[in-house]
Amino acid sequence: MSQFYFLSGLTIALQIYAFFALQSLVKAGTPKWIFIIGYVLLSILVIYSIYNMYSAIQARNIFSSTQFNFNIGVVITALVTLVFFGAMMLTQDVARLGIGAWNAISGALSDSADKPAQMIPGRRNFLTWAATLIAAVPFSAMIYGITRGKYNFKVSEVSINFPNLPKAFDGFKIVQISDIHSGSLDDLEQVAKGVALINEQKPDLITFTGDLVNSDKNEVDPFINTFKQLESKHGTYAVLGNHDYYGTYRIEKENEPAYWDDFFAKYASMGMTLLNNASVKIEKDGESIQLTGVENWGAGRWFPKKGDLDKALKDVDNDAFTVLMSHDPTHWEEKVIGHPKKIDLTLSGHTHGMQFGINMPGFKWSPAQMRYKHWMGLYNDADQYLYVNRGFGFLAFPGRVGMWPEITVIELKAV
Ligand SMILES: [Fe+2]
Repeated sequence: MSQFYFLSGLTIALQIYAFFALQSLVKAGTPKWIFIIGYVLLSILVIYSIYNMYSAIQARNIFSSTQFNFNIGVVITALVTLVFFGAMMLTQDVARLGIGAWNAISGALSDSADKPAQMIPGRRNFLTWAATLIAAVPFSAMIYGITRGKYNFKVSEVSINFPNLPKAFDGFKIVQISDIHSGSLDDLEQVAKGVALINEQKPDLITFTGDLVNSDKNEVDPFINTFKQLESKHGTYAVLGNHDYYGTYRIEKENEPAYWDDFFAKYASMGMTLLNNASVKIEKDGESIQLTGVENWGAGRWFPKKGDLDKALKDVDNDAFTVLMSHDPTHWEEKVIGHPKKIDLTLSGHTHGMQFGINMPGFKWSPAQMRYKHWMGLYNDADQYLYVNRGFGFLAFPGRVGMWPEITVIELKAV
């Protein structure tokens, strides 16, 4: 609860500071009470959202509620905007205080009666306007991310050369999606557009690398008929992500098998084959590659470590070309690279690119990189590749800014 008081206190302090800065911009003649009432109501909404957010955290009910998503959206948008605005105003105020201190010292040392009329110079209106306009940039970006960005599906095309790829698979198209997070999705039509965009890629194979739900298997129910529309020549395969286990944390141990049976039946009804520490042979024109899937394995004490590569690979030939689906990219650096069986390509998700960042040719940045070494895109280590997908859905913050939802098309090339 101390975090709640800290965050509320910080927000209220920023709100009061911004209020006194902004009120000087309200032109004479405009009724000031309109500004005051509007500002106070918005400020109350932000504090109320912080309160709701913490209540949900206390009740351990954070991932399935659209109200929680709304609250976190309000809080993050308000804080980012206030911090930007506050930082710029603070720069101006520190400069004013510096000038004031200089005036005080030089005034005390001087014999002249000609003292400045005002010790500390007043705020400059144009600087306050500039701070307001600059703070409007992150504010607008957050609003865009919440209203549009979260369904702004982008197709990433990746082509990878493999000397050991069976020739029949030259040009084979694997479409990867990840992190659907059904409980957060709030627009069936937009989800259907995403599914249509996947089908437009004419996939040979579709891979879904985990986190179908946030914290309960039933979250996917409204979307089953939509994901059922996924089409590919060789089928849709899936693995579990860390969130797919969270529903079992709230039920009795003896009810777990029934929970999983029902959850797995939902995958089957969408035409998805789960690879829980298992492999399947994908055959084409008399040749084959191996598709392997592991349960979630994530570094750090919070994440399930049920992924078992040895078990998944037990019937796989050592020289077979192998594609692995593993939700969490930390599995690649911790277990896959050093494994005696070479895994040619690993497909992961999990990071969401933190749903915030910059992704331009030649430059990519996101707070995700502070937490994850492999957080987005293609990586390579000694002829073993990893692709980290940014995800199809979103979690907690109900938006995406710069880190748009992704559909990856990976073309395998035999060289
Ligand atoms: Fe996820």
